[in-house]
Amino acid sequence: MRTQVVIVGAGPAGLLLGQLLHRAGIEALILERRSAGYVLGRIRAGVLEQGTVEVLERAGVAARVHAEGLVHHGVEIGFHGRRHRIALTELVGKSVTVYGQTEMTRDLMDARTGCGAPSIYEAEDVTLHDWDGPSPRVSFLHQGVAREVACDFIAGCDGFHGVCRSSIPAHRLKVYERVYPFGWLGVLADVPPPWSELIYANSERGFALASMRSPTRVRCYVQCSLEDRVEDWSDARFWDEFGQRMGGSIAGSVSGAPSIEKSIAPLRSFVVEPLRCGRLFLAGDAAHIVPPTGAKGLNLAVSDVFYLHEALRDFYRERSEAALDGYSARCLRRIWKAERFSWWMTRQLHRFPGDAFDRRMQETELEYLFESRTAQTSLAENYVGLPL
Ligand code: FAD
Ligand code: PHB
Repeated sequence: MRTQVVIVGAGPAGLLLGQLLHRAGIEALILERRSAGYVLGRIRAGVLEQGTVEVLERAGVAARVHAEGLVHHGVEIGFHGRRHRIALTELVGKSVTVYGQTEMTRDLMDARTGCGAPSIYEAEDVTLHDWDGPSPRVSFLHQGVAREVACDFIAGCDGFHGVCRSSIPAHRLKVYERVYPFGWLGVLADVPPPWSELIYANSERGFALASMRSPTRVRCYVQCSLEDRVEDWSDARFWDEFGQRMGGSIAGSVSGAPSIEKSIAPLRSFVVEPLRCGRLFLAGDAAHIVPPTGAKGLNLAVSDVFYLHEALRDFYRERSEAALDGYSARCLRRIWKAERFSWWMTRQLHRFPGDAFDRRMQETELEYLFESRTAQTSLAENYVGLPL
């Protein structure tokens, strides 16, 4: 077997890259370790930047996000029993779209099936060979049969725990990492959201987030201990805690709703540099992780693969390697800005084990935010994202 680009991973990064390359006339094979059903069952991000929606348009997969995505012109921050609105559109002229990662993944899977481009799900033991030379290969096991594919480039879109980054010797990469001393417990429930915009709450009991997926489905989170297990949290305990952290009547009408999914995610900031080694290019969670507080993880995965597809297109059309050479630096400029914002949001909104000084600083920072249009504009600029 031979193809131009092997894409490892069929998460949003891998599928979107496949679609962008297909439209540019570049052949790619996607290899995914899990089944398509498993990939679709993972509940993750929910907020798309305008730039992300524009990339979906360019990839020809934006019909449903336009029809069903919920456009939000502001977000709220709850603190000391009050809610403060950050008027995104009024401050910076842009909005965000609430549309689940699973829906975006489904649209991309449908597009790939529709155009007949190849994906192999349940590919085991994916192994990269000779990625540092001119003729890379990828071997894997599928339905008990050993297979190998030769290619020009490998795109490592296989997430944080994937095989691509770990195939690169440690001395060629510089890792930056911060692990936070808590996680997020998330619940999905079929009940109309009683809030019209997302609410990020900093309470004495810890952080909570009121989000949504559709006019009939909520997604809610509470900061939890890293030792907690999902089994420790009955629906009743979750809604009680969520209600106390949100305050007022906000949780009233959702609090009896049975959960349809419940999971715990640890919080981490992580960047690896560079994103390219030889003919292997990392993109999305394979190269960087942000804590979800800034809603940046999925959006960064989209900007990485947009830049990568442009670089590969230049290579095949013009035999120019300039954009491939510049790929890592171009992505990293955006990645570090998103890392800074996600780290800042996480610091301001969670309960940390720190001392009284840290807590007073957090309060002072939030009070400054609520008083200062400049600070709100800065938050809004970062939240809606940079142009691509
Ligand atoms: P992934 O979605 O992780 O996709 C990688 C794919 O590669 C997976 O399908 C995986 O099965 C496959 N793969 C892995 N190893 C191999 C292998 N060896 N061979 C073949 N295939 C392989 N972001 C937010 O903005 N808000 C959130 O609430 C939020 N919650 C999250 C919760 C969790 C538990 C996680 C892990 C992430 C969350 N994120 C969130 C981040 C966001 O979902 C990610 O940034 C986004 O999924 C990145 O997409 P990706 O395609 O790079 O990686
Ligand atoms: C979500 O809806 O899952 C979501 C929204 C905003 C975030 C994180 C997660 O910052």
